[in-house]
Amino acid sequence: MIGKHSRLFFGISLVVLVVAIILAAWGFPKIIQNQIQKNIQLDNSSAMFEKWRKMPIPFDFKIYVFNVTNAEDVNNGAKPKLAEIGPYVYKEYREKTILGYGPNDTIQYTVKKRFVFDNNASAELSEDDEVTVINFSYMAAILSVYELMPSMIGMINKALEQFFPNLTDPFLRVKVKDLFFDGIYLNCVGDNSALGLVCGKIKADMPPTMRPSEDGNGFYFSMFSHLNTTEIGPYEIVRGRVNMYDLGHIVSYKGKTSMSQWGDPYCGQINGSDSTIFPPIDENNVPRRLYTFEPDICRSMYVGLIGKRSLFNLTTYYYEMTDALAAKSANPDNKCFCKRNWSGNHDGCLLMGVLNLMPCQGAPAIASMPHFYLASEELLEYFDEGIQPDKEKHNSYVYIDPVTGVVLKGLKRLQFNIELRNVKDAPQLENVPTGLFPLLWIEEGAEIPESIQNELRQSHSMLGYVETARWMLLVIGIALTIISAVILARSSSILGWPRNSNSVSFILRSGVSASVRNKSY
Ligand SMILES: *[C@@H]1O[C@H](CO)[C@@H](O)[C@H](O)[C@H]1NC(C)=O
Ligand SMILES: *[C@@H]1O[C@H](CO)[C@@H](O)[C@H](O)[C@H]1NC(C)=O
Ligand SMILES: *[C@@H]1O[C@H](CO)[C@@H](O)[C@H](O)[C@H]1NC(C)=O
Ligand SMILES: *[C@@H]1O[C@H](CO)[C@@H](O)[C@H](O)[C@H]1NC(C)=O
Ligand SMILES: *[C@@H]1O[C@H](CO)[C@@H](O)[C@H](O)[C@H]1NC(C)=O
Ligand SMILES: *[C@@H]1O[C@H](CO)[C@@H](O)[C@H](O)[C@H]1NC(C)=O
Ligand SMILES: *[C@@H]1O[C@H](CO)[C@@H](O)[C@H](O)[C@H]1NC(C)=O
Ligand SMILES: *[C@@H]1O[C@H](CO)[C@@H](O)[C@H](O)[C@H]1NC(C)=O
Ligand SMILES: *[C@@H]1O[C@H](CO)[C@@H](O)[C@H](O)[C@H]1NC(C)=O
Ligand SMILES: *[C@@H]1O[C@H](CO)[C@@H](O)[C@H](O)[C@H]1NC(C)=O
Repeated sequence: MIGKHSRLFFGISLVVLVVAIILAAWGFPKIIQNQIQKNIQLDNSSAMFEKWRKMPIPFDFKIYVFNVTNAEDVNNGAKPKLAEIGPYVYKEYREKTILGYGPNDTIQYTVKKRFVFDNNASAELSEDDEVTVINFSYMAAILSVYELMPSMIGMINKALEQFFPNLTDPFLRVKVKDLFFDGIYLNCVGDNSALGLVCGKIKADMPPTMRPSEDGNGFYFSMFSHLNTTEIGPYEIVRGRVNMYDLGHIVSYKGKTSMSQWGDPYCGQINGSDSTIFPPIDENNVPRRLYTFEPDICRSMYVGLIGKRSLFNLTTYYYEMTDALAAKSANPDNKCFCKRNWSGNHDGCLLMGVLNLMPCQGAPAIASMPHFYLASEELLEYFDEGIQPDKEKHNSYVYIDPVTGVVLKGLKRLQFNIELRNVKDAPQLENVPTGLFPLLWIEEGAEIPESIQNELRQSHSMLGYVETARWMLLVIGIALTIISAVILARSSSILGWPRNSNSVSFILRSGVSASVRNKSY
């Protein structure tokens, strides 16, 4: 009687326990993972897809330009004094065009960015402000010619004087809107053979900062117009339907699986994502580095894991830029980003913290972090004032929500520089001090709006409930088993093997266990 029911009870409890263990260990995590995957995978049924295709909020694209305040003195050999002016804020809208789907769970697309000047956010600054900056296109032309045929520099400079009218020094007085987007006209029409050489070289290299004029008689130079409304890509990335931890991984860019510019398979690797999408973070295997591929500089970069940080009341993983641009002495892997014939300095490698963009952009531009943050101190000695690296202002970082991989907040900062070189044969350069001269730096970033923060917070608390339910179920299963085991042990020791059934106790007992179980669901 009582013993038989307690055995039945014990049996049911065991079944409950086994089910609870299976659910806790495998079922619930699998269900949760499936739900997350459904929401984040790049499939037109997922919640994320439309936000990914067309960013719901524009990025902020901020430009800080270095105004040279003692140009005359620099012409006579003094150290430069710079004044940072900015930010000039542009809204950056991004939209992707889906081209198709690949066989191995991939999607192909191009990205189009569109920039609009944001008057309000730029405060009292206007696109019509005049600044004095290093004459980037002139220095680019001089340096390119210098690498090719140093002895011709005097002759070429004569041609450049025609190409660049009113050329008196290596500085350029310009409206910021012309420097950033509208362009500065460079004339190629003239009866000078050296001029033809310079224009031919530009035509051959076609640096992205040069765009041919409509009439074909010259070029417009500007820093960013090549980014405005041009299709970038195509990219091919993983959709994350098969393995969500692969989500966003770039498989190919412009149909290539590695970049040939660096002439080295390691430095040409295309790693990681396009920095707008990341896979969820597996708490048991938190990646120490997050890779992104930056087409503007033709290479993969990474941010290093710093730790957990709270942002918008959400637990996030915080990554920041560390040694990606380190000198080869600090990071030997970086040695393939430098080659002897790209620069006369040092052993062909540039100094710590800078990257030669010549192979990438066809112009002798040098990238660094703003104000040479994390770069060699040697670079700072060149300036009289105006360059002050500051971690808060100049670092690049990202906050990731580990559950969905969503970027809660991220900033990418990059400075463009060019060498100002003392060249005895060019009157404009015969007295200037040689050094790495900054032109401007950009900050591109966004943080998710409150509506998406709330969505994330809600889904996190939902996960919290599910997690609680998972453990409750397990606890109940264990408790039931212990109770029934005790009852079974008692009944068998007191009464021996039972023969008859007692319907009252049966109903009572099973009712108790059923109601307890009901509570857990
Ligand atoms: C969703 O994508 C599939 C291909 O994966 C396509 O056949 C279908 O038409 C798409 N649906 C919508 C609404 O875009
Ligand atoms: C930049 O510096 C020059 C002096 O070299 C000055 O005349 C000009 O007003 C400055 N531009 C801005 C926007 O402050
Ligand atoms: C798909 O994956 C298989 C195996 O990994 C590989 O052999 C094949 O080349 C891939 N196809 C494409 C188009 O990348
Ligand atoms: C970008 O291009 C669009 C379309 O050609 C144009 O309307 C817009 O003014 C450009 N943005 C800037 C900042 O020049
Ligand atoms: C800029 O400010 C003006 C007035 O302060 C306001 O009317 C306008 O909506 C603002 N524009 C944007 C894009 O915020
Ligand atoms: C060059 O200088 C002359 C006279 O000094 C001036 O009239 C002309 O506008 C200048 N050209 C440019 C492109 O600055
Ligand atoms: C600097 O370069 C521009 C073209 O980029 C040219 O027109 C100008 O004359 C050059 N020199 C000076 C002093 O502005
Ligand atoms: C690419 O990623 C691999 C590991 O995922 C790493 O070992 C390698 O250093 C990365 N390459 C570059 C150029 O960053
Ligand atoms: C964060 O949580 C605290 C306490 O729960 C609350 O007082 C605060 O307003 C929250 N902050 C945000 C930005 O939601
Ligand atoms: C630069 O180096 C590459 C190989 O690293 C070589 O092919 C090329 O000829 C060199 N160029 C010059 C101008 O020395």
